[in-house]
Amino acid sequence: MIKHFFAAITGNVISLVGTLMAVVGLLLIVALLAMQSLGGFQGGAYLGILTFVVLPMAFLLGIVLVPLGMWWRKRQDAKLAAQGKETGHLPVFDLNQERTRGVLITFVALAIPVLAIAAGLTFKAVHYMDSTEFCGMACHKVMQPEYTAFQRSPHVRVGCAGCHIGPGAEWFVKAKISGSWQLIAVMFDLYPRPIETPVHSLRPASGTCEQCHWPTKFVGERLKVRTHFADDEQNTELKTALMVKVGGREGGASHGIHWHVDPNHVVRYLSDRSRQTIYEVELTNRTTGETKTFKSEEAAPAGTEWRTMDCIDCHNRPAHNFHSPQYEVDLALSEGRIDRTLPFIKREGVRILTESETAYDSHDAAREGIAAATKAFYAANYPDLAESEAVAQAGKALGDAYAWNIFPHMKVTWNLYPNHIGHKDSPGCFRCHDNKHKTDDGDKIGKKCGTCHNLVVEEESDSKLLQELGLQEPPPEPVATDAAPAGEAQATGTAN
Ligand code: HEC
Ligand code: HEC
Ligand code: HEC
Ligand code: HEC
Ligand code: HEC
Repeated sequence: MIKHFFAAITGNVISLVGTLMAVVGLLLIVALLAMQSLGGFQGGAYLGILTFVVLPMAFLLGIVLVPLGMWWRKRQDAKLAAQGKETGHLPVFDLNQERTRGVLITFVALAIPVLAIAAGLTFKAVHYMDSTEFCGMACHKVMQPEYTAFQRSPHVRVGCAGCHIGPGAEWFVKAKISGSWQLIAVMFDLYPRPIETPVHSLRPASGTCEQCHWPTKFVGERLKVRTHFADDEQNTELKTALMVKVGGREGGASHGIHWHVDPNHVVRYLSDRSRQTIYEVELTNRTTGETKTFKSEEAAPAGTEWRTMDCIDCHNRPAHNFHSPQYEVDLALSEGRIDRTLPFIKREGVRILTESETAYDSHDAAREGIAAATKAFYAANYPDLAESEAVAQAGKALGDAYAWNIFPHMKVTWNLYPNHIGHKDSPGCFRCHDNKHKTDDGDKIGKKCGTCHNLVVEEESDSKLLQELGLQEPPPEPVATDAAPAGEAQATGTAN
């Protein structure tokens, strides 16, 4: 029976090719899966495409070819039989003939180096296709926003797979299957613009973040100094310093912000799909089994879902943080990419960036337009400065800020992807900590500033404390009019 089956599926050229394709395809799939699950060879979308799209297609084609060949052979045989000819199926190689042996040996001798080179090239190609670089570049148009933000993040050395796949075979296979689907979506232009956030299929943080970060590590308090610039002519530097109570587990109990991820209790919440509006929060103490439910005044509509809180409910932008125009201009000013002596550059920079949001259809057009708008402001108000290097540089820095955050082809605009840490540009912590989520007994998820941080200094331009700590330069002395001759020009600068 088996012998008969084997004879049938290899008994003619077409079926033989089909069988070979199916067998080799299957072997390669198994080999790739084994290689990937053994680690060291994590695999990006493209290896997934090879494993889950190209090879299975070869396999299926092979399977289809087998009966096709058998049917064709049967027809040929019938024809030959009718003509009274022999019905031999496959060509005969007679190894008794010296010529056949010669051809065979030459063939093998040539095939070995060719195969070796092909294998080496394939290996190199697959390896390259795996790199973050290729992954970001090849799906460039689709993932350009995330890839661009990723390159500015502290996780730039982690690679996409660290957070989007993590270790183990199960999530790897899931990622490959969805990766293959994504390829098809890109090919047929079916993907959503912008890519939807949050990612509902993201792996829970225990399999990703917690591979590198210890969830219960005691972090304690962290001093965060934020630099802003005012909208005035001098772009006055303002400092805010917060002692952020990150906390963590200490002496058997958790305190502070990382209290939420203590393994001893579970916080679950009911929200809309965007996770921006939270209707109910349920807190379970694992040791005592007690639960507490905080409800908002609004009743949950249909289409809401429960989720267990983990790192990503606060750190939703660890690798793709998109910023506001204010943030970008402040950053460029504090890093010196924009000259802070340019009058009103903070106010104008924010205005120009905000107005650019939907004004351009490519980064190149935006860079040009933004540089021209910057120059136009100075030409109209400070003609002496319009042609200066500082204005050209500011125009370039604003163009960069646009290109890092706005992606017209993906419809990514300012503040489209909110960051849940804090409460300044989006509700963030205040989605729950709003005094409005209450238990039946009247306990609420509080909004007291001191729960999360102590404000050490708020928007100060001349903080003695920060100056002592070396975190702020004292503001420039107003120059007296009777000072040295050089003082005159400066004095006009601070006149109003
Ligand atoms: C440090 C972890 C981390 C790394 C590294 C990382 N991501 Fe993400 N990524 C996330 C998280 C978390 C989200 C989901 C945010 C949410 O669901 O609210 C996300 C979301 C996304 C989204 C959905 C759109 C969005 O912005 O929410 C895309 C696309 C994406 N990532 C692509 C990539 C690519 C491409 C790379 C590599 C260049 C990468 N990610 C690297 C953590 C990471
Ligand atoms: C493969 C290891 C790895 C994974 C996975 C990973 N991280 Fe990190 N993370 C790091 C490293 C390394 C740093 C430190 C980078 C530095 O100091 O420059 C870091 C830094 C951070 C920081 C501090 C950033 C800052 O501004 O100082 C946060 C917050 C963070 N990670 C959160 C996350 C979250 C949330 C996830 C899961 C979505 C995650 N990480 C996944 C390795 C990882
Ligand atoms: C309730 C919100 C919340 C949750 C949940 C949360 N974090 Fe944080 N985490 C914060 C805040 C806020 C900070 C302070 C960062 C800041 O102010 O920029 C922080 C800081 C950090 C830092 C930087 C600490 C340092 O040394 O400066 C790391 C790393 C980090 N978190 C990792 C994690 C990981 C891993 C998880 C999940 C196990 C997690 N966080 C869960 C809110 C949260
Ligand atoms: C999904 C809802 C939710 C979100 C979002 C959330 N929290 Fe909480 N938080 C809670 C609940 C519930 C409690 C417990 C309140 C109680 O026990 O009375 C809590 C308690 C706290 C506590 C007190 C912990 C202690 O020591 O007892 C701090 C600090 C805190 N949250 C900070 C933050 C910060 C910072 C953010 C944003 C980065 C944040 N939370 C986001 C639900 C949330
Ligand atoms: C549930 C926790 C929580 C509560 C309550 C809270 N904050 Fe915050 N706040 C944060 C976090 C987290 C950040 C982000 C820290 C950072 O920038 O790293 C922040 C940032 C800030 C900043 C700095 C913004 C910036 O970037 O310049 C100010 C100012 C501030 N909070 C004021 C307040 C005031 C005033 C209150 C009381 C009404 C308050 N916060 C209540 C969690 C909280």
